[in-house]
Amino acid sequence: MSVIDYIAENETRFLEELKDYLRIPSISTDKEHAGEVARCANWLVDHLKGIGVEHVELHETGGHPIVYAEFMEAGPDKPTYLIYGHYDVQPPDPLELWTSPPFEPEVRDGKIFARGATDDKGQLFAHLKAVEAHLKINGTLPVNVKMLIEGEEEVGSVHLDPWVEANREKLACDAVVISDSSMYAKGIPSIMYSLRGLSYFEIEVTGPSHDLHSGLYGGAVPNPINELGRIIASFHDPDGRIQIDGFYDDVRDLEADERQAFADLPFDVEAFKAEAGVNDVQGEAGFTTLERKWARPTLDFNGIIGGFTGEGAKTVLPSLAKAKFSCRLVPDQQPHVIEELVEAHIRKVASPNVKVELHFHHGGKPVITERDNPAVQAAMRALKKSWDTDPVFIRGGGSIPVVATFAEVLESPTVLLGLGLNDDRLHSPDEKFDLENFYQGIRTAAYLWDELA
Ligand code: BES
Ligand code: MN
Ligand code: MN
Repeated sequence: MSVIDYIAENETRFLEELKDYLRIPSISTDKEHAGEVARCANWLVDHLKGIGVEHVELHETGGHPIVYAEFMEAGPDKPTYLIYGHYDVQPPDPLELWTSPPFEPEVRDGKIFARGATDDKGQLFAHLKAVEAHLKINGTLPVNVKMLIEGEEEVGSVHLDPWVEANREKLACDAVVISDSSMYAKGIPSIMYSLRGLSYFEIEVTGPSHDLHSGLYGGAVPNPINELGRIIASFHDPDGRIQIDGFYDDVRDLEADERQAFADLPFDVEAFKAEAGVNDVQGEAGFTTLERKWARPTLDFNGIIGGFTGEGAKTVLPSLAKAKFSCRLVPDQQPHVIEELVEAHIRKVASPNVKVELHFHHGGKPVITERDNPAVQAAMRALKKSWDTDPVFIRGGGSIPVVATFAEVLESPTVLLGLGLNDDRLHSPDEKFDLENFYQGIRTAAYLWDELA
């Protein structure tokens, strides 16, 4: 039997196993779920051993455990690749918006619905099944494979970076392979060669020392919500350009062939609007929608709170207003530089009559992989073999911070072999993973090892 036949023959079992994996609520942000996160790591350890990967390690960190495995039987004359993925998931809230419960996976219309279905359990699982198929049919793999599966991606990979640094020899590889992103569209296999970075902020504006009656004090004292509103409004000009001094200094311009390649992709703006549920697209003047979401930096507010938000009306001047906001960064912007620029901007525009505190959350650096990298080219061939159509190059708007660490510490390029779709609702209710993508992903990963060898 061939590896590809083995995959076809075992599709149903693979799906049942994926369901077991998805049933574990490995929510990394929630301390109450730490036991479930650990249970998920152990499930992976057992599963890896079960598919024939004998060398599996579980590493405790200051946070959630890291699962590490390796299969080095291909021998020292063969190249070595590192598969990275994450077994932690985002919280499922708001629960009432799920059609079926987030941790009771359900297949509807050729898609599996569950938290983590696409981000990243389903995508990572495709690689495990490809490894299984090779080991079951050939007793070995054509290349050496290492696996690094973490439980803290959704909380900023805080313990992973130092672990990678401390284990740089152990993790040494010719390239990293990650399936934790998306394809361009259904039926259009793609390689993502760039990811945006991230700087995340929290701002707290304090006015009066306590809430005040707005009739007795209104108009005569600073209001922190009004002041926060002025700060928010100061970030963009009417053309959607960010007004922070120096913000664009390190932005690498799109190359002419990239702009052309983006323009050549089939893009249906009406479908994009429908998918996002908006009347019209909006963004930085002078750029197309794909350029805006893949290759331009942003500043967006993620949450805001302050004053009276209960039912009815309450005439109050609040003491406090708070907001969370973040910047998506593009090559070659650096999170620590952006933090300084944002802070300087806020100091410049904020009224001296309120107290403004700025707090930095985790960030991540943007990354770009050369499109002519041999591992990238091998992945393009593997995609072509499994999908029987020419794959395309795309960039991605999301962030996977450890990719920059792999480039810096291991000096290894990363191949982003996204198997998800843009409408998979990752981080949202009704997250799903298309089963055709799951099975094609297994085949692609299986072909990939041959192509890389
Ligand atoms: N898998 C996503 C990132 C992603 C999704 C990249 C789709 C490209 C296409 C990852 O799990 C994620 O959610 N990353 C976070 C950053 C992290 C620091 C919390 C993000 O992009 O917001
Ligand atoms: Mn992910
Ligand atoms: Mn995610």
